[in-house]
Amino acid sequence: MRQQIVAGNWKMNKTLDEGIELTKSILETVEKPRGLVVIAPPFTHLRDVGKMIKVRKHFHLAAQNCHHEQKGAYTGEVSADMIASCGAEFVIIGHSERRQYFKEKNDVLAQKVNVALAKGLRPIFCCGEPLHIREVDTHVGYVAKQLKASLFHLHEEDFRKVVIAYEPIWAIGTGRTASSDQAQEMHHAIRVLVAKKYGKIVANDTTILYGGSCNAQNASELFAQPDVDGGLIGGASLKAEDFATIIAALK
Ligand code: PGA
Repeated sequence: MRQQIVAGNWKMNKTLDEGIELTKSILETVEKPRGLVVIAPPFTHLRDVGKMIKVRKHFHLAAQNCHHEQKGAYTGEVSADMIASCGAEFVIIGHSERRQYFKEKNDVLAQKVNVALAKGLRPIFCCGEPLHIREVDTHVGYVAKQLKASLFHLHEEDFRKVVIAYEPIWAIGTGRTASSDQAQEMHHAIRVLVAKKYGKIVANDTTILYGGSCNAQNASELFAQPDVDGGLIGGASLKAEDFATIIAALK
């Protein structure tokens, strides 16, 4: 089923105590949400934050990444199983920062998607083009390639569990948001692509979030677009009031 979602990606911010404080403020500030609220703190905070939000309807826990193997000698890594055992239901996969700084490629991301689904986690799969691709107007093809390479091997039943997050790289953390028209154009293109692969019903049920400098000021206009089903929020998810305003902007 298509869901309206606002997900907060804390990235590598907040100590455990600060994260607990932020969660407390979010729980106090957010009124009854119209959709799902997903919080993605660092691994070290998953269990504590998870326990706090578990008691609230509509709140869900996510990790920001998982390893592509199920287990083994991968010092410093965290598996999908471990994440699920901390109470998380979602995991962000393929964030552009993972692709850029940790050289994660489409094939490894496909493995991460598989391992996440196998352990009962719903992937929030990120896609999006860099600025030079947008400038030569090949962004739709670029994103299509990312989705085909990392998601379109899935059977329909598994694909239905995936949330797609379109995050143009030039808009992440830059203060430069995609216009609502630019977001709608890409979200529609993604839905058309999903329809071609899985059929119209599945495409219509797919949740597609926008991410990239989405904030308390621009969220309503972005979320008002017919193919934008909410947002993946970085910077603005670290301030409870801003995050609450963004959640209140859901359709
Ligand atoms: P931003 O990050 O909202 O700070 O631009 C979004 C993201 O990277 O998920």
